[in-house]
Amino acid sequence: MAQFLAVAAKTQVSVLEKELSSEKFKVDKISSLGVYFSGNWQECLRAHLTLRNTTRILLPVLEFTSYKEDELYNNILKHDFTKYITVKQPFMVESSAIDCSFKDSMYLSLKVKDAIADQFRSKFGSRPNVSKTEAELRVVVKGFKNNYLVAVDTTGGILSERGYRKDQGPAPLREGLAASLIDMTGWTSDRPFVDPMCGSGTLPIEAALKANKKSMMLRKQFAFQSWKQWISQDWSESYRQVARREIQPSSVNIFGFDHNPRMVAVSNLNSEAAGTQTSITFKQQSVADFSESPWSSSKPGVLVVNPPYGERLGDVERLQKTYKELGSLFKNHFRGWDCWVLSGNAELTKSLSLKSTQQIDIFNGPIKCKFLHYPMY
Ligand SMILES: C[S@@+](CC[C@H](N)C(=O)[O-])C[C@H]1O[C@@H](n2cnc3c(N)ncnc32)[C@H](O)[C@@H]1O
Repeated sequence: MAQFLAVAAKTQVSVLEKELSSEKFKVDKISSLGVYFSGNWQECLRAHLTLRNTTRILLPVLEFTSYKEDELYNNILKHDFTKYITVKQPFMVESSAIDCSFKDSMYLSLKVKDAIADQFRSKFGSRPNVSKTEAELRVVVKGFKNNYLVAVDTTGGILSERGYRKDQGPAPLREGLAASLIDMTGWTSDRPFVDPMCGSGTLPIEAALKANKKSMMLRKQFAFQSWKQWISQDWSESYRQVARREIQPSSVNIFGFDHNPRMVAVSNLNSEAAGTQTSITFKQQSVADFSESPWSSSKPGVLVVNPPYGERLGDVERLQKTYKELGSLFKNHFRGWDCWVLSGNAELTKSLSLKSTQQIDIFNGPIKCKFLHYPMY
């Protein structure tokens, strides 16, 4: 039994915790870095294949306080890093330090790398190379006020990048963030889902993956599977079990609209790559000329939209009109629905002329945003 840390941005930690619990993982505690859960290595693989709200899964191996270089060096040596890889497999160290006596995280990485290299040298007479691109062991060091957490990265990539994005518009949402936004709304697949400004289709595709319990990770290999102790392990049953969950619900009502025909083509291309094309209808349509509702369910649904924020000069005036049209769209065509807007521009949001009942702080990349709930009752 090991304890893992599923990593998420601070604002996504609570949806990740709910996801872990609903997927029946044994949740131990939450922290600002993510959610700790325990299980065996099959559970670690299952986490990689099923979780949509985590960026990667770490195995924490050391926690200590250090003020000086030699203290840090000696603490690193307390864990045996030689059990993961051979001297032929490259490794790397990735560090961050806030309010620590090591001000420079590059220097911190260098010191940790030296300690790990010395550990290999004293045991085998040689050491593995360091490579950022080909590392099979990534050691992650997080320092805060001279307290350090050292972990090994079991993933070796980014789980929130699903691999279906074949093309994109100018400001696509990260796939993992789109999944978290959908979970925050509480949407379930028995209700219709609409994104009226879908761009490259991320929100409808993530909704369809959730509804179909479909994993984009089934063809992936993760870092820990190349480690010495696991290299000969047969993982195929775990992959099969997750693949078996992929039952396409026939009644799912998911729609994406965009006024730009190129974005509709891009959404269709990405949806095909994700294998969600039978679950989503993409259509060219502007928020200003929305006609009848194409969904068949009588149940009111969930609308999630990520409108343009107007970063370029001159955009704002034009976009005020678009936000006004968006507000009218909610009122005229989505009565009874839960409408949610990811807004990166508070001034523009006022043009919706609606009052939100819930405001959640979210970072969309470097942009500080609010995720706003407008129940259209
Ligand atoms: C910020 S992007 C959405 C990005 C999307 N969430 C993604 O992940 O790719 C905003 C989208 O709104 C579309 N848009 C702008 N004005 C529109 C309008 N009046 N009606 C419909 N779509 C519009 C743009 O073409 C653009 O694709």
